[in-house]
Amino acid sequence: MLTGPAKLPPPYRIKVVEPIPFLSADERRLALAEAGHNPFNLRADQITIDLLSDSGTGATSAAQEAAAALGDESYAGARSWFRFRDEVRDLTGYPHILPVHQGRAGERILFSSLLKPGQICISNTHFDTTHANVKLAGAEPRDLPCPEAADLDSDEPFKGNIDLAALERVLTGPEGHRVGLVLVTITNNGLGAQPVSMANLEAVRELCQRHAVPFFLDAARFAENAWLVREREPAYSDWTPRQIATRAFQLADGCVVSLKKDGLTAIGGLIGLRDDELHATCEANLIATEGFSTYGGLAGHDLERLAQGLKEVVDPAYLQSRAASTARLAQMINDAGVDTIQPPGIHALYLNAGRLLPHLAPHEFPGHSLGCQLYLDGGIRCAELGSLYLGGMDDEHRLVTPAPFELVRLAIPRRVYTDAHFEYVASVLADIAKEPERVRGYRIVSSPPLLRHFKVRLEPLAAGPTAGAVA
Ligand SMILES: Cc1ncc(COP(=O)(O)O)c(C=O)c1O
Repeated sequence: MLTGPAKLPPPYRIKVVEPIPFLSADERRLALAEAGHNPFNLRADQITIDLLSDSGTGATSAAQEAAAALGDESYAGARSWFRFRDEVRDLTGYPHILPVHQGRAGERILFSSLLKPGQICISNTHFDTTHANVKLAGAEPRDLPCPEAADLDSDEPFKGNIDLAALERVLTGPEGHRVGLVLVTITNNGLGAQPVSMANLEAVRELCQRHAVPFFLDAARFAENAWLVREREPAYSDWTPRQIATRAFQLADGCVVSLKKDGLTAIGGLIGLRDDELHATCEANLIATEGFSTYGGLAGHDLERLAQGLKEVVDPAYLQSRAASTARLAQMINDAGVDTIQPPGIHALYLNAGRLLPHLAPHEFPGHSLGCQLYLDGGIRCAELGSLYLGGMDDEHRLVTPAPFELVRLAIPRRVYTDAHFEYVASVLADIAKEPERVRGYRIVSSPPLLRHFKVRLEPLAAGPTAGAVA
């Protein structure tokens, strides 16, 4: 498909730039303290390299901005809506498309229309807002990742798969009648950005059809999953990423998509459906809570950017370059002595903070500590995915059940940073890896009841080694 030198440059050049701030070490220390030692509370103008999220943080193209100028802002029946709808129909094959302002609005509308209180929603891994929206619908989110996902270091190609044997056990067991939905997240953001194979999706479809359970995709990174399928699943090596993505959508009964990722836009989302009745219920909810069904909380110019972005994101040259860029960052980080979940995915890298900081116990939040240190030393913002995010706490915010791993996610915005930015990130990490024992732990000061990691406030513990090690 793409030939030429081993390392091809990105298939675009930079036309519009934005300055990034460089604060002094003292300014960063003060900023973090004022943010309650939670990087989510930092101001963007206090950050040098922002790897907190790949969601809505990508650069748009000249073609997208040109399309945006054509945005039709009519309340109903806008031209931009039809352009968006036709593009999505063509990509997904679903007859019913509902636009929403972002993924979680789609989750809320879909789950409240589809799930009944007391039902179970099974996933390879629910993303945090997905988990919360299943619960808000009165249902129980249950994660069944494949066993291979537990080995962070192995090179298994599809660690994002759902555990088919476990899924079948639930469907055929005493709880089978309670399963209201199977939702497979592609790629699996909650577990290392690992892809899901087409073979896995086909088997899920077969199980769901046999047990008459709806099967949906959480397809925020449908194009990146398609690229990794093309690279790692031999039966698909001749397919284009777009063909693979379309095939994945065809296997499911519907989808919910945050378009802030592979839509290549700052905002947007959609629900795709086959079922007429479910569509009617979701549409009524959409109109009451998001906007009329031809804009759903989006402006006409957003719909135009999306229609164009959905074409650009499946370009093999773009996906190849993005995957190679993430892999190069992974290599630099690993060479610096910091382990990441293997094999590297595309939208993010996950640092094994538990292994790097054995002097910190899970209740001292090694992942969060490493994330804070990256900010203190280099102005780099990222997100913890460890006991602070996933651990069970008592009423006094003390950790009762640690997370299985203490990770830090470096999310990679699309078309934003160059290898030079990533060399800087790797060099800051390399310095931390030379003296890991200087990284201090944290304790929680206050915490909200739901989605703790967004608003939690913490304080650093006194310096010095404390309790036991983590694997
Ligand atoms: C897998 C997955 N599902 C759903 C969402 C929620 O999407 P949004 O942030 O657009 O509400 C995200 C966001 O990061 C995600 O990664």
